[in-house]
Amino acid sequence: MALILLSYDWRIALLSFIFVPISIITVNFWGGKTKKAGEEIWELQTKYETFLHANFQNWKDIKINNLEEAQFDELNGHYKKISRIWFINQLYLHLGITYSFFTKNFITQLFIYFIGGLFVIKGYSEVGVLLVFISFYGQFFGCIESISNSMMNFKNDSVKIEKVIEILNLEAGKKPYKHIEGTDINVENLKFTYEGKDSLVLDDISFTVSKGEHLAIVGESGSGKSTLAKLLTAQIKPQGGTVRIGGIDINTVNSESVPEKVSIVAQEPVLFNMTIRENLFLAKADATDAELIECCHRASIYDFIETLPNILDTIIGEKGVKLSGGQKQRLSIARAFLQDWDIIIFDESTSALDNENENDIITELKSLSAGKTMISIAHRLSTILDCDKVMVLKDGVMVAFDTHENLCNRNETYDFLFQNQYSKEVNHAVSKSYYNRYPAVN
Ligand SMILES: Nc1ncnc2c1ncn2[C@@H]1O[C@H](COP(=O)(O)OP(=O)(O)OP(=O)(O)O)[C@@H](O)[C@H]1O
Ligand SMILES: [Mg+2]
Repeated sequence: MALILLSYDWRIALLSFIFVPISIITVNFWGGKTKKAGEEIWELQTKYETFLHANFQNWKDIKINNLEEAQFDELNGHYKKISRIWFINQLYLHLGITYSFFTKNFITQLFIYFIGGLFVIKGYSEVGVLLVFISFYGQFFGCIESISNSMMNFKNDSVKIEKVIEILNLEAGKKPYKHIEGTDINVENLKFTYEGKDSLVLDDISFTVSKGEHLAIVGESGSGKSTLAKLLTAQIKPQGGTVRIGGIDINTVNSESVPEKVSIVAQEPVLFNMTIRENLFLAKADATDAELIECCHRASIYDFIETLPNILDTIIGEKGVKLSGGQKQRLSIARAFLQDWDIIIFDESTSALDNENENDIITELKSLSAGKTMISIAHRLSTILDCDKVMVLKDGVMVAFDTHENLCNRNETYDFLFQNQYSKEVNHAVSKSYYNRYPAVN
């Protein structure tokens, strides 16, 4: 089409082509703005969906605490933000499209009539040639308009396309499966922060736990204990440093390699709205009834399960809402007992249990963990006293890593934490042996 225009009158054609780059630049400009607004919509929608999810899960707590109005205001806030940015996104999109339409039907026409008329008056061209030229130019710029509109729509959709590519790339870059042989844990210069957080949640953590050792991690709330547990199980990726298990960097192997070796009982038990049996099958899909019953006995939950209408086939609610906090913990411990692990991490996973239940479970755990590596994020003195080493975290920094006895004598942070968190337990010690092992506190 451009060649036909050039053949009719190359001078008018060259002058009129000026609108092609102008159109591309303008469409790029509005397209860029549309895309940016599209990215914001995506982010806001993700936050909005997370908010909705949390509300559906915790609706009972919201009702009990009379938070309906506050939640409704927040919902409104989400709607307002999404509506505002959606309006901006559509405004930019249609500004780009309207610009193309306006350029094709008005500006270029005006320009050609003006320049063409001038050429005819000056005798450089003829009326007949000009009329044919105008007709072809209309078709030519119609194509440019279609391309511009497609570009605008493409820019608008590119946010979604890029997300899909991101996911496909993740799949393509899947790490290789590797069987981890050894059980030693070696952590070097580990650094981590959550997205959007300014400061490091864990700063330069280095330590080693040898096969069969028991490590207790202590520290005030928010010091980074659960974050460290997640890093040790490759649930999150560090921004710096390495976690090696049996000499293998767990962030270089695929997501199936680590759970084979390490089991974690998380601070907040993850249970699904399925039967108890199906929740346990997640740890071992081919477990027999006898195995399921045995691990439930070990976790002191089978007596309760027997009282349920369908025993192991009773459906527990979303996130286990039909279970108490302690029952959820015991069920997730039963699941861990079912697994074949060499390393186990307990993140305050017996915190909701009474002393009797906790002691029973710890006794079972000890018999199962002989010769295996165990890391306990400790809330009870008894756990600490039974460990080979204690790590003290303070604001994401490892301030001490030593035996309990050495720490009592030398470490101020530990001493402070100990006096605050565990001294009551010492005073009401379950066993007199605590006093013998910790003579400094009385
Ligand atoms: N998903 C998250 N996104 C952003 N920040 C987070 C997230 N999870 C935890 N944090 C922040 O990271 C820091 C460490 O949290 P972490 O849960 O590791 O602490 P903790 O020592 O386990 O505390 P607690 O004893 O209360 O369980 C805290 O400041 C917390 O607010
Ligand atoms: Mg925690």
